Formats: sequence, structure tokens, C-alpha cells
Amino acid sequence: MIITKDPYKTYFDEFEVTSIVSDPGIQYSLFETEIKGNQARQLKILSEIEYGLPMFNGQSFGNQVHFQNAYQTPIQRWFPYREGYSIKLVNSFIKELKITGNVFDPFCGSGTTLLAARINNLTSFGIDVNPISVLVAKVENEQYHQEDIENITIQIKLLECLKKSPISLKTNFELAEKVFNWEILQSLLQLKNYINSIEDKKIRNLFFVAWLSIIENVSNIKKEGNGIKYKNRKRTSNGYVNIDKEVWEKQKFPEDKFNFVKTKLLNSLKNILSDIKYNYGLSEKRPRIFNGSCLEFDKYFSDEIQLTFFSPPYCNCFDYFEIHKVDLWLAEFVKDKEEFRLLRNTGFRSNTNSLNHKPIKYQNEFLEKLINLFDSKKLWNIKIPNVVRGYFDDTFTLLSKLYNQTEKQGYVGIVVGNSAYSGVIIPTDILIAEIAKEIGFRVKRVFVTRHLTTSSQQKQELEYLKNYLRESIVLLEK
Ligand SMILES: C[S@@+](CC[C@H](N)C(=O)[O-])C[C@H]1O[C@@H](n2cnc3c(N)ncnc32)[C@H](O)[C@@H]1O
Repeated sequence: MIITKDPYKTYFDEFEVTSIVSDPGIQYSLFETEIKGNQARQLKILSEIEYGLPMFNGQSFGNQVHFQNAYQTPIQRWFPYREGYSIKLVNSFIKELKITGNVFDPFCGSGTTLLAARINNLTSFGIDVNPISVLVAKVENEQYHQEDIENITIQIKLLECLKKSPISLKTNFELAEKVFNWEILQSLLQLKNYINSIEDKKIRNLFFVAWLSIIENVSNIKKEGNGIKYKNRKRTSNGYVNIDKEVWEKQKFPEDKFNFVKTKLLNSLKNILSDIKYNYGLSEKRPRIFNGSCLEFDKYFSDEIQLTFFSPPYCNCFDYFEIHKVDLWLAEFVKDKEEFRLLRNTGFRSNTNSLNHKPIKYQNEFLEKLINLFDSKKLWNIKIPNVVRGYFDDTFTLLSKLYNQTEKQGYVGIVVGNSAYSGVIIPTDILIAEIAKEIGFRVKRVFVTRHLTTSSQQKQELEYLKNYLRESIVLLEK
């Protein structure tokens, strides 16, 4: 008799099975009488995909799949990477799966998975296309010694004495004067130049992350929804109203703009310093972090991986480059529109701006059935069917490469949210599970962690399908 090892028995077995699909045929006929048309057709397809998958209730992970707690978490709070998840989440998987080998995050963002690996004294690798993420991940995962603490303290003291410069500075960022009050922009540019003149690279990078972390706060915009919004545009019961930029800036910012910005930077640095001073027991095993596309991760390292844990961009048209646009331009990670366009093209195909001319090779019967239900008149962009196809084509490439580099009985954990277009659900969690099975992985668990909301218009169209609008963790084993 073969006894199959179940390494997560102690913890994961406490989750009850939550799947509503016992037999897709039965479920469909049950609903058929009351649900008509598109929703009934979708329910049949969704049930077919979900049938037989190990669906689990993962509500206890619900408050760990987002960044909310991380705003207060030492180290993670250095940069508000609102697309990130909590260290605790990755820690649970490392512990429960008894990971002792290499850990990898192909979409490392601010480096949460890598931090969790370090806390557990594990070697790890990370990659991200966004140079801001890579810098934040590197700085948060740096090893700081007593000598560095002393240097940082001296640099903070020097910065405290810095005076406003009378020289007017320029930036290539066309929107700069709209996005910032002019004096605030000048202060940010002066502080950036000052930071660039710090000789020690470790300290310079750390100061640069602190500088990046205050940009949104001192600007006229906020990162919201799928892009950036102007803070002086307010929603009222009669729709949106624009408050005059100058009037708004006068109300919002104090007279002495230079000291205002400098104080924000100093506060951020003091928080960082207090985190560094406290010993969190981070091991010396600093991760190796690369700036590039995860679709080519095998070009960067060839070590076998025991656990890959990540959250990819969701198939919901969220554009990571758009949301970090101001930071990318002001920090000079991009110098012109062409550079910005090229950077966008290296991203995972999850939004209309990331569509390059890469052919779509991967075909999935269920996905095509769902795409056929799209109502082209209701789609806000005609490229959406190809965004969705491109997304799963990239997913297939990545999972295939991960399969090759994962050690036997190694794991892949994926935190992902589903989406909807013109009233049609794209069930990314269970589609990923299906694709993984095709490649050779075993699907160990699909934890449904929380339900997502949608626009009020789609709410009605998705009345009987709302269970599928959710964020899940798909756990695969090789
Ligand atoms: C959900 S975020 C990951 C957040 C991360 N787990 C954390 O806690 O900070 C997704 C990341 O994927 C990155 N990304 C998008 N396309 C990519 C690609 N082709 N290769 C690598 N990273 C990519 C984005 O820049 C973004 O940082």
C-alpha cells in the first residue's frame, strides 16, 4: 500500500471543503429553471472547470492577501506597495509545507516572499519588471550592520541641515507641473540630487526608497483604482467637481514647501532607522533579485526551487506601470515616452497597454467558450479578448518553466483574483489550476480567501455568479 505524504495535515486540513460543484451536470440543471441566458451558460462552463478541483475555505487568509497590515509592519512599511501581500501569509506556507530548499518569487514586487524566506533562513530568488519594485525589494532585503546604522544617522543629521536651493531644476516628466505644486516639485528634485550625491551605494539606495515613498503624499495625485486620480477632483452628489489647483494647493500645503517635503523625508528615514536598529533576526542569506521578465527567469538562475510563491498581475486590466508612472518618471527610471512604452511591453499581458505583438500559442477550450460570451458592445476596449488570451498564454509559459525548475515534490503557491468583462467571469484561479494540471502539476488546494466586489452595473449581470468573483490561493505540487 502506498501512503501519500500529506505535509500540511496539521494545519490545512482544518479548512472545510467549500466547492459547490459536486457534479456540473446536476448543478446546471438545478439552476436552469431560474437562471436564463448568459448566466446559465456561464454557470455551466464554470462548473465544468471547477468540477473535481479541491476547493477549500481559506477565509482565514482573507486579511493577509492584501497590503493593509503591511502599512504598519516593520520593513514592509518603508514603501507603500499597495499591490503586495503580508509576510505572515508566505510564512504560513513555508512553515506548513516544511520548506527547507530554495524559494522563488517571479513577480517579487516589494520583496515580501523574499523577506519571509529570509526570516526562515532560506535562500531565495526574485524577479520583477518594474525597476522601482526591484529597488524597494533590494533595499528591504539588504543586510544592515552597526556601521551602516552609524552612517545612516550621520546622513540624516546632514540632511536636517540642508537649505533650500535658489536654482531652478528641470525634469523630463511632462505632467510634472500638473501633478505637483511647483515649489514642491523643486524641493523633490533638489532632495533627489542631494541623495544621488551620497557616496555609499547602500545608504544612497535606502535614502532613495525613502524619497520614493513620500512622492504620492506630497503630490496632487493619489493612486486609486486602476490609475492615478487628482486629489483636487472631488466626487459630490452632483458628480465630480474640480477645485482650482492653486486654491487647493494653498489649503493643502504649508507656506514653507521645502521644509514640508524635507520633514516628510526625514520622518520616513527615521522610521526606517528605527526598524533597522531593531534586530528582526533576518538571516545573512540575502536574496538574489533581478530586474527583468519572469517569462525569462531561467536566464537569470538555474537553481532548483522548492517553493515558488507569488501573486501575478490579475487579469483585470490593472496597469502596474500606469500606477507607478509618476514615481518612474520623477526618479528617471524612464526618460522619454518610448522608454516608458518599451517598459510596459515587458509586463505580463494583463492589460491593454501590455499587449505586444507576441503570438498567442496557448489554446484553452473553456477560456474560448467564455470569451465567446463577451458582449462586444459592452466591452470598453476591443483588445480585451486578446488581453485575456495573452494572459493565459503567459501563464502557460511561466508555469511550464516553473515545472521544469521545481524540485520533485516541490510546491507553487499562487495568490490570484478573478475578474469579469461585460458580465462574463474570467475564473483565473480555477483556470490556472486546469493549466497547471495540463503541465503535470497536482492541484493540492484552491483556497477561496475572500469575495471581491464589482461595479453596480456588473453586480446585476453577475447575480448568480458572484461566488466566482473572488481572490484565491492555488497550491500546486510537482
Ligand atoms: C501583485 S504584484 C506583486 C506584489 C508582491 N507579492 C509584494 O508583496 O510586494 C505583481 C508584480 O508583478 C510585476 N510584473 C508584471 N509583469 C511582470 C513580468 N513579466 N515579470 C516580472 N514581474 C512582472 C509588477 O511589476 C508587480 O510588481
